Amino acid sequence: MAKVLLIVGARPNFMKMAPLYFAMVKAPPLEPLIVHTGQHYDYVMSQAFFEDLALPQPHHFLGTGSGSHAEQTARIMVEFETVLLTEKPDLVVVFGDVNSTLACSLTAKKLLIPVAHVEAGLRSFDETMPEEINRRVTDTVSDLLFTPSPDGDENLRREGVAPDKIHRVGNIMIDSLISILNRIDADQQAQIVQRFGLGRRNYVLVTLHRPSNVDERDGLEQILRYLNRLSSQIPVVFPVHPRTRKNIEAFGIEASFHDAFQIVEPVRYREFLTLENNARFIVTDSGGIQEEATYLGLPCLTLRPNTERPVTITEGTNELADMNGIEAQSTRILAGRWKEGRIPDLWDGHTAERITRVLLEFPGKRH
Ligand code: UD1
Ligand code: UDP
Repeated sequence: MAKVLLIVGARPNFMKMAPLYFAMVKAPPLEPLIVHTGQHYDYVMSQAFFEDLALPQPHHFLGTGSGSHAEQTARIMVEFETVLLTEKPDLVVVFGDVNSTLACSLTAKKLLIPVAHVEAGLRSFDETMPEEINRRVTDTVSDLLFTPSPDGDENLRREGVAPDKIHRVGNIMIDSLISILNRIDADQQAQIVQRFGLGRRNYVLVTLHRPSNVDERDGLEQILRYLNRLSSQIPVVFPVHPRTRKNIEAFGIEASFHDAFQIVEPVRYREFLTLENNARFIVTDSGGIQEEATYLGLPCLTLRPNTERPVTITEGTNELADMNGIEAQSTRILAGRWKEGRIPDLWDGHTAERITRVLLEFPGKRH
């Protein structure tokens, strides 16, 4: 038996974990157990994903919640250590770059339990992003590093990671995207889009939650004003992350926007994928949404000065944007002058199977 703990906590973790959970269930002696740290806890940021992805309830729920970086990371570490001492797993698998990823990889490693990192090697080279610290520390302590693209391998090799720990397996988010979208037929997709009062290929989908965009009043207001102007040309739908929602309220930004600019609650996964699949283009600062846009061949403007996912630019449909240039970029997209892009290698829906094959060969911890 090889008991493996799969760690999730925040919205972008669930769709990365689900395909691996299901692949491992079919691959005895691997025995996957889900640990949810509780970093995200609103229904639509957490439980709705378990429903849409048909996941079982977590085997352990740590209920750690929000806080400063130190508070949140420390609380997760303390709670997770108890789980590790009880479960004595052979391996811990962490996903992505959130605080739960960092906290659980450190805690496991200090108890001499091997760690596997899914989505290893990504680098923005921007230390003002908390995720960059999380990525680097997690990769440093990981025993197995599963990368989505060749830049990940290169970054790790440059940092001195032994080549035999690095496994390029592709992008596991795309496994979930393919399997969920395949289950929503054209009629159901049309209904979902209509429910938002929108028409196919006739709206822009927006998400924003990076502190650099939403934690300061002036910057956030400038972005909202641009989106409001854009909505006079094409409808805009903006499912708002709780961090952003709280800031809009705290800054007292008055919402006297066009009717065509809809600010709505976060959207559950199957609906969000449908909204992506039918949009004209995307404006985002999300990591994962840049990748989903590239897979779907959809123009994407990433409101950031850098990205840890460069293949979405070099091979995909993504471009970086700032408030000086974004208007011209939107006009270019609406005029149909945008790159075609292609799907990067191994973003094919089979990443979880490739990871599982590596795990079956991995010795793990001997108790
Ligand atoms: C976190 C991740 C970020 C990821 C994002 C995905 C870190 C450092 N950041 O950012 O990398 O891109 O999730 O969505 O791990 N809140 C709620 N309800 C929730 C969750 C959060 O109201 O269910 C509010 C709380 O006020 C909280 C704030 O959002 O303080 C921020 O949550 P937190 O998890 O600290 O960071 P995110 O901005 O969500
Ligand atoms: N997502 C969702 N509903 C939303 C916004 C995003 O289901 O309202 C999904 C999206 O399809 C992608 C993931 O959440 O799979 C991206 O998470 P997020 O942007 O929160 O985090 P990041 O990728 O930036 O870390």
